[in-house]
Amino acid sequence: MKIIHTLSEMNAEILKHKPHKQIGFVPTMGALHRGHISLLEASQAQNQLTVVSIFVNPTQFNNSSDLQKYPRTPEKDLEMLRKSGCDIVFMPNENEMYPQPDNRIFDLQNLDKVMEGKHRPGHFNGVAQIVTKLFEAVPAHSAYFGLKDFQQLAVIKQLVEMLKIPIQIVACPIIRENNGLAMSSRNELLTFEQRAQAGIIFQTLTQIKQFWGKKTISQLEDWAIQTINANKLFNVEYFEIVNSRTLEKADFEQIDDGITACTAVFASQVRLIDNVQILN
Ligand code: PAJ
Repeated sequence: MKIIHTLSEMNAEILKHKPHKQIGFVPTMGALHRGHISLLEASQAQNQLTVVSIFVNPTQFNNSSDLQKYPRTPEKDLEMLRKSGCDIVFMPNENEMYPQPDNRIFDLQNLDKVMEGKHRPGHFNGVAQIVTKLFEAVPAHSAYFGLKDFQQLAVIKQLVEMLKIPIQIVACPIIRENNGLAMSSRNELLTFEQRAQAGIIFQTLTQIKQFWGKKTISQLEDWAIQTINANKLFNVEYFEIVNSRTLEKADFEQIDDGITACTAVFASQVRLIDNVQILN
């Protein structure tokens, strides 16, 4: 497994292989778990060479304490990637990705105004900044993203279309712990009790399917918020049932794009996000 730290070396490596190999790319912020590895495996199944990047991107964090708290486990990550047969790891430092401040503002239409975008202002602009830089550094054929970050995926698809970046975006399913909790680097920050009971988030999201059509959208959202908040360990920030393409509030009359229930829930200071597709 090759470990590369600079943009120029990374770019040269891709250009060397691109004429005769299908190349897949998995961008991450490290603290890897089985969810990340599932993206690597999806790429390996469809490509001859896979690049995983590890970079904790400062511009997508809304506050410095969240950035500082973000888990960093580079040795363990490299070990997992080695075991999983990853070909190349791209691990740039901050100066390599941001030699000067990035002032670009992306027009992400409505996609960064709702849900995560509303509660984490600037977050998706930061994601757009780093993802465009990463796609330039690693001009692969395909890039793999998890449905865990459903809104991020919508933003990245929009970005690629808007900027005509020649890369195929592949959506991969959410990998969960046994109780249904979506795997996340942040789960390590939960107490034993919080982690054990956090299955309530997935259970509630899933139950929306059973009630679909029997209550209004607002009633469903209110029911879900009350259900999760009834457990004192958790506090819902938002629970929204949306059009899967536009991310606007769902409408029973407009279901062609699919419907997704999305939520962000606090367990003390730890913020967990999850979603379930209600209709496809
Ligand atoms: P990170 O949170 O490390 O996630 C990297 C990728 O792994 C994302 O595409 C995310 O959706 C996926 N992922 C995380 N948990 C998953 C799970 N339980 N099941 C399936 N996929 C999962 O997302 C980012 O990093 C950053 O925003 C990034 C795109 C790298 C830009 O900095």
